[in-house]
Amino acid sequence: MEELWGAVDDYFEGRLVPADPLLESALRAGEAAGMPAHHVARNQAKFLWILARLTGAKKILEIGTLAGYSAIWMARALPPGGLLITLEADPRHASVARANLAKAGLSGAAEVRVGRALDLLPQIDREGIGPFDLIFLDADKEHNPEYFAWSLRLSRRGSLIVADNVVRGGAVADPRCADPSVVGMRRFLELVGAEPRVDATAIQTVGVKGYDGFLIALVTAESDSPRGPEATGRKT
Ligand code: SAH
Ligand code: DHB
Ligand code: MG
Repeated sequence: MEELWGAVDDYFEGRLVPADPLLESALRAGEAAGMPAHHVARNQAKFLWILARLTGAKKILEIGTLAGYSAIWMARALPPGGLLITLEADPRHASVARANLAKAGLSGAAEVRVGRALDLLPQIDREGIGPFDLIFLDADKEHNPEYFAWSLRLSRRGSLIVADNVVRGGAVADPRCADPSVVGMRRFLELVGAEPRVDATAIQTVGVKGYDGFLIALVTAESDSPRGPEATGRKT
């Protein structure tokens, strides 16, 4: 099946998402630096770009930069004066991403911050940069529950929270799976489902990236958390 999924992605991309030499070279730079090919597929990246335009996003937050592929796509949807902040724990990934964003002419619009997201998010909150109009969760899945709490804190009514890799080959539906990333994703889905401040759904996908999916949550109320997720006390 995977071969067929890939062929259909090629077909779609051939018609709808022609290769952009700059983005292809950004991916090659990541590959050359020995980074894993964990970026979203080209047609998925364009989906994120369309979401950013639909929401009229002026401020975008991404957790999980890698080579900056999804960041370049989303930053290209920003209006003049817009800002994308992307968080990356691995300094080597961050430096490749910065170079890729610079080549794309996006150094002014996109900022790569290096560190574990849970260490960086409190500072972003303190700086008062938000609320973000679009938030893309695509880092270590075991921390998605905390990233969701921060996303609520850093968003407003009408913001969109998108999470990648919510299916992982179907593992998400297996309650016996002990993989921390799957356990984290399941906890995340429970929290999103129980959260009155969002309306959410999840969609399964197949393609060059295998069998996976996206969650999308529309924030319907302002965050009322007085101190933010730090107050929930989980030590990382
Ligand atoms: N969004 C990218 C892919 C991200 S892959 C794209 O589609 O192009 C996930 C990235 O998250 C990796 O680069 C990994 O180093 C980073 N990461 C893992 N744990 C993290 C953490 N705790 N904080 C920030 N980044 C993290
Ligand atoms: C992995 C992470 C991702 O964000 C992704 O899109 C695909 C794979 C991973 O860690 O295996
Ligand atoms: Mg991903």
